[in-house]
Amino acid sequence: MPEHAPIKPIRTAVFPVAGMGTRFLPATKAIPKEMLPIIDRPLIQYAVDEAREAGIEQLVFVTGRGKTAIVEHFDHAFELEATMRNRSKTLEILEPTRIEPGNLVTVRQQVPLGLGHAIWCARAIVGNEPFAIFLPDELMIGEPGCMRQMVDAYSHVGGNLISVLEVPYDEVSSYGVIAPGARREVPGATLTEVTGLVEKPKVDKAPSNLIVSGRYILQPEVMNVLKTQETGAGGEIQLTDAMAQMIGNQPFHAVTFAGKRYDCGSKVGFVEATVALALARPDMADDVRALLKRLLEAG
Ligand code: UTP
Repeated sequence: MPEHAPIKPIRTAVFPVAGMGTRFLPATKAIPKEMLPIIDRPLIQYAVDEAREAGIEQLVFVTGRGKTAIVEHFDHAFELEATMRNRSKTLEILEPTRIEPGNLVTVRQQVPLGLGHAIWCARAIVGNEPFAIFLPDELMIGEPGCMRQMVDAYSHVGGNLISVLEVPYDEVSSYGVIAPGARREVPGATLTEVTGLVEKPKVDKAPSNLIVSGRYILQPEVMNVLKTQETGAGGEIQLTDAMAQMIGNQPFHAVTFAGKRYDCGSKVGFVEATVALALARPDMADDVRALLKRLLEAG
């Protein structure tokens, strides 16, 4: 796709939520990882809020067995709401869980064959439009939000965009890593051309220390690549491998996210997110700071 092709807006977001969450067992045996709360909102709610802030209304959840709680979270809860009304409690707190009828679609990934396979399962809904992908266990906190930053940058360059973060070199082998090309400025963002992508490289083979974080804007052609994609690292169908094949055929850029990313798929990242967000909340910050101080002093 040449860079001067008309840039289609991003209307659809895909949320792959069919993974097994093995790092959080036994907590995730019956509860989806994406429903684990950071303070009082489940992870999936943060991702949906970020999508809406970026102007994306059509939400596609790629779910699997045992994941119905995610869909329930965005449904009406008649008994709860009736009880709250009877007790004269305001329903405003439930507002973020409301979705315009028809704007939430679920597809099923019967077997968790990997992130790439999960995305491919959404092909019929995505159709021939560019789309966004959110990995809800990566919590992105920024102003504006990560996807808003990406959508704004996308409006200048089109093509494919991924969000990246710089990490210490000794951490790169847990992530997808980009090979960086030329840099360019667009209003509000610095873009780096992506000339290659490697999933979980050894430290000495890593082309950079810029890791792919869990937000993407991709052109629909990625579905054709995923269709024939062989399994890669970890025996899974990797999205990174499919994206790597698109480099050279379509514009491909990385946006360095101006904000903070918490890897809530890991236990330490989850605790970090909980503490950081609590410290940022005016209704809790003082109490939490005092309790942290007490705990640290007690050793
Ligand atoms: P992860 O590898 O972090 O998720 O996938 P996981 O498999 O759930 O977790 P662990 O490693 O076993 O603890 C990143 C995202 O991709 C989704 C996950 O739900 C998560 O949002 N995913 C992963 C799928 O939807 N299907 C898959 O087959 C694999």
